[in-house]
Amino acid sequence: MPESDRDRAGGLEIREFRIEDYDRVMALWAEGGLPLKPQGRDSRENIARQIGLSNVRFLVAEDGAGGRVIGTVLATHDGRKGWINRLAVDAGLRKKGIGARLVRAAESWLESQGMDILACLIEDDNAVSMAVFEKLGYKKHPEIIYFAKRKYPGV
Ligand SMILES: CC(C)(COP(=O)(O)OP(=O)(O)OC[C@H]1O[C@@H](n2cnc3c(N)ncnc32)[C@H](O)[C@@H]1OP(=O)(O)O)[C@@H](O)C(=O)NCCC(=O)NCCS
Repeated sequence: MPESDRDRAGGLEIREFRIEDYDRVMALWAEGGLPLKPQGRDSRENIARQIGLSNVRFLVAEDGAGGRVIGTVLATHDGRKGWINRLAVDAGLRKKGIGARLVRAAESWLESQGMDILACLIEDDNAVSMAVFEKLGYKKHPEIIYFAKRKYPGV
């Protein structure tokens, strides 16, 4: 994918996250109800470290007119599967196709990295996100239960 993907007609640019976007992105995630770990994996230091990794691509949608960040997606892979994380769109701009554009941009990078299976984790009360991912071609796997081991609370 090119460095930026500007859709002049739509006035939207999808570009790499920059650390200067951090505060705005945290506000978008909070507004979207995404679980936030500001002392853990979402701290500024941790996000700065993550964007330096070769298996991570953190994209934002920027509104062409004002240059405001209005959406995010964080694509990662583990060498076997691609993961779509942290999809969020400004509450006032939802249902206009921005989320789908972000997912497509993440997918195209993950596919370029050789990932033939793409996945995401969705909280069980997030019906909107489930509907969105189903629309985008993802199949629900209720037979899989997520287990995690945490090094410290709030990680
Ligand atoms: C999930 C989210 C990013 C979707 O962004 P969006 O820009 O509104 O999505 P889009 O407009 O691109 O919609 C993509 C598809 O999902 C559908 N969709 C969008 N919102 C929907 C809703 N509330 N209910 C049902 N379907 C919906 C759209 O109709 C579209 O399908 P279509 O192309 O067949 O019409 C947005 O709702 C959001 O930020 N939610 C809060 C954060 C969140 O929960 N993120 C996901 C974490 S797993």
